[in-house]
Amino acid sequence: MENILEKAAKIKEKIDKYNYYYYVKNESLVSDIEYDKLMKELEEIERKNPEIKDELSPTKHVGSGLSDTKFQKIAHKKPMLSLSNTYNIKDVEDFHQRIKKIIEKEKETDGKDSIEYALELKLDGVSISVHYKNGRLVKGVTRGDGAVGEDVTENILEIKSIPKYLKENIDIEVRGEIVLPLSEFKKLNQVRYDSGEDLFANPRNAASGTLRQLDSKVVSERNLDCYFYFLADCDKLGIDKHSESVEFLENVGLKTTGVCDVCSSIEELEERIKYWENSRGKLDYETDGLVIKVNRVDLWEELGSTTKSPRWAISYKFPAKQVTTTLMNITWQVGRTGKVTPVAELEEVEVSGSKVKRASLHNFDEIVRKDVRIGDRVFIEKAAEIIPQVVKVVKEARTGNEKEIIPPTVCPECGSELGKEEGLIDLKCPNEKCPAKVRGQIEYFVSRDAMNINGLGKKIVEKFIEIGRIRDVSDIYDLHLYRDELKSLEKMGEKSVENLLKSIEESKKRDYPKTLYALGITHVGKFLASLLAKESKSIDRLAQMSIEELLEIDGVGKKVAESVCKAFKNNEFIEIVEKLKTHGVNFKITATEDVSETLNDNFKGKTFLATGKLENFTRDGIKEYIESMGGENISGVSKKLDYLIAGEKAGSKLKKAEELKTVKILTEEEFLEMAKIGEK
Ligand code: IVH
Repeated sequence: MENILEKAAKIKEKIDKYNYYYYVKNESLVSDIEYDKLMKELEEIERKNPEIKDELSPTKHVGSGLSDTKFQKIAHKKPMLSLSNTYNIKDVEDFHQRIKKIIEKEKETDGKDSIEYALELKLDGVSISVHYKNGRLVKGVTRGDGAVGEDVTENILEIKSIPKYLKENIDIEVRGEIVLPLSEFKKLNQVRYDSGEDLFANPRNAASGTLRQLDSKVVSERNLDCYFYFLADCDKLGIDKHSESVEFLENVGLKTTGVCDVCSSIEELEERIKYWENSRGKLDYETDGLVIKVNRVDLWEELGSTTKSPRWAISYKFPAKQVTTTLMNITWQVGRTGKVTPVAELEEVEVSGSKVKRASLHNFDEIVRKDVRIGDRVFIEKAAEIIPQVVKVVKEARTGNEKEIIPPTVCPECGSELGKEEGLIDLKCPNEKCPAKVRGQIEYFVSRDAMNINGLGKKIVEKFIEIGRIRDVSDIYDLHLYRDELKSLEKMGEKSVENLLKSIEESKKRDYPKTLYALGITHVGKFLASLLAKESKSIDRLAQMSIEELLEIDGVGKKVAESVCKAFKNNEFIEIVEKLKTHGVNFKITATEDVSETLNDNFKGKTFLATGKLENFTRDGIKEYIESMGGENISGVSKKLDYLIAGEKAGSKLKKAEELKTVKILTEEEFLEMAKIGEK
């Protein structure tokens, strides 16, 4: 019996781990066959020994729902091919020569021996095939292996830029790329960072992970975008140039990048390539290159395809954002939640313009999965201002002297024995008083988006913890009692202490959404803190709310509700909140903060877009401001746009808005004026 129990437990542990990777991380650690085999084995054991069956067994939960809920496989009518890559203009020239050779019998009509090419942006996302019947969206299928994809219709219905109805009642299949705009990617990772979750390595991973979510609500929240670049069987619609089919897509209401440059010579292609190499940084989505397509569709058939890629198109890849370097060592860092994260210490390299010495590895399982060892050559990637990541190991470069990485069993900071939280793979320090945890919590508490206390830098916090003046965040408000002692500390003059104490005093007046955020409840980042604050109106009320009540709030899911309830059941947390309250920290919504009162009539129902350099706002800052006033942010210039806020050096968006004539163009000053006038 003992043996069977042990065996079942082992299988369960494996399945739980695979499920975690599959559903949470969007990664398959095993093949479907292997997974199904394990599940069958467990079912068999449970059938023969019903007494060991329990409510939490994977056979009862994800397992049984898995095959139904997993996306249905659908074969593509025509395979979704990939593209062969080129990296320099010489490769492009070779491509041109190859084409010329194949179609040499074909006489060009203009007699110039020229072939027309369409040059487009190569978006770095997830490709999708979307079917419309009678103008109505009926199906969305991922590329899959090119021949067979997965039915993700439910999810693509949540992508706002994919229209449910076209402007014409036609039957078409269109293909495009689903991307997560950079601005959304940054926001998403910020929220994940705030709540102690693993970050997405890049927008592509985030887009693909989101698209394969089983809960379409998550898709809706993440604001994916989609750009179309291909109309299947366009010749049947009387279209004979690719550039015309792109126009057709736009005319029927589908979004394109708006970039389809027709070039008739290598020189023209070269000029456009250079232009986009320099300008792609201005786009709100990632591009990994350009796609060059023969413009005449009738030549496509003549040129044909290999099993992998068409001969009538190639991609031109931009220089990679990934570089290789040597992994010198691993250090283990304890964060504010106690999570122990491996950090790769690297030989310094430059990645997209900045020097990198450290990169994240998330957790020990990732080290195992990527088979990372000390001394390895590794690929590093830096995605959109986020902490660099170790992408993969160059196994071919191994010398045999690389050293295996062994996970710590005790906290590197306080020596407590590390634990693993149920179901999770993270190593965690359980000691609430662990100095690294307290340091992290304080850093978070005083940060700009939280209490915004100036003068409590890392070194000073460390010192205060060391001399016992700070044991938890509430002690910050007692620091004034030790004025003289603080002033006598190294590098803490009279003025800096006074400024610090003033900043601490002022912080007591922060808005409730900020004070709630500052408490660092797991999963409660900026957005959720603001939502919970607005709904609860005070922390006393929030503390009393049940899971059911929390779940009723639109935007609060199970994870958040449970985490909030758990926090208010933790005596140490309650004690800290009580102490902060006694010190006079604000934990209530004041009348003027009520959303309904901050809405501005000038903003209600209006759409905005800012471009160029602004004086008073960051790009995300102005978006938040617009939202808080009741306006809506949109990402492109179109007839849907009401106001374009044009900052310094505004470029193509301003030009397009001027051309459209329907968009009102505001200077930053005019925008601020408009905000003031509409204020209630
Ligand atoms: S055309 C056979 N156009 O790149 C035609 N693809 O490496 C292939 N992609 O799977 C598609 N931007 O996911 C085309 N403007 C563009 C594209 C594009 C991105 C992706 C697409 C494709 C992959 C091929």
